[in-house]
Amino acid sequence: MWRWALSLPEQLAYESPGLARLRTGDRIPQRLIAAGMGGSGVSGKFLEALSHGGNLPVIPWPWAGAPRWLSKDDTLLAISYSGNTAETLATLRDGIERGARVIGISTGGRLGDLLTNEKLPLLKAPEGMPPRSAFGFLLGTSLRVVERLAGVKLWEPAETIEALKMLCSELCGEGYASINALVRPLKNRPLVIYGTDPLTAAAAIRFKQQLNENAKVFAWANTLPELAHNEIEGAGPGIPPQRICLTLAEEPPPLDEVLRDGVQTIYLRGTGPNPLAAVLGLVLRGDLLSLALAKERGVEPGPIERIEDFKKRGRTG
Ligand code: F6R
Repeated sequence: MWRWALSLPEQLAYESPGLARLRTGDRIPQRLIAAGMGGSGVSGKFLEALSHGGNLPVIPWPWAGAPRWLSKDDTLLAISYSGNTAETLATLRDGIERGARVIGISTGGRLGDLLTNEKLPLLKAPEGMPPRSAFGFLLGTSLRVVERLAGVKLWEPAETIEALKMLCSELCGEGYASINALVRPLKNRPLVIYGTDPLTAAAAIRFKQQLNENAKVFAWANTLPELAHNEIEGAGPGIPPQRICLTLAEEPPPLDEVLRDGVQTIYLRGTGPNPLAAVLGLVLRGDLLSLALAKERGVEPGPIERIEDFKKRGRTG
């Protein structure tokens, strides 16, 4: 898991063979739905955040079945590493039926079969890892798809990848102490991760997922504007969760003064040559933190028995 986490820059550099064949069309789609669950679906959150500055609205879709408004003017990007996720397959089937433009990103599975049978584009991700460890492949491919369809640049791949390579070397050496120092306060506490802008909000969801799946702890994610409108009233009695606040700003928001629940917020600030590089640096640190916490708790990060059991019972779609 550790090795895969550190392969984020190489994964982002990967260009899926089908990309070059992806037809760009005469006009950009009206909207793009990014369907996917868990470690595959989180890419849609990053796409949505980046789409705020672009010309193609992106809607992450973690549901079984497409919305009724989906039409032939829309594009459905179905992201499922295994290709066998019930919710994503249901949305894909609806998308095909409604005549939306459909593109898949997967290693294959039933999603691959469906797209191949319908002669629809499938962008292959390399096989052999857990879906959550393929985040860089899935995000990088999704970004390239949206760029091709919308005809705009959403990120600076070379600069971002270079910055992440440097961060990987740092975190493999002396920088690891900064990760290790965070492990103790996270042990045996519920955790909440706050994002402070659309990109760090996407990273907060990734943090939460990795803490859940790798460290097997209860964690949730929210955003700072929302905190101020509801959770703030819940602070106080009981065991307060440990807060982690992800930010790109130099001046962190004064959460402890406002919440006054005795918790010291852990602030993690992303830095880098561009906002996506800074946020993906936070993602990398979160991935390593989840593995360090798993080690501290004496749990094996790889197996996800409960997720698999739930999927076997067919209760997800
Ligand atoms: C497992 C993981 C899960 C899966 C999710 C959907 O490593 O990250 O969150 O991503 O169960 O499965 P896929 O990604 O195969 O569509």
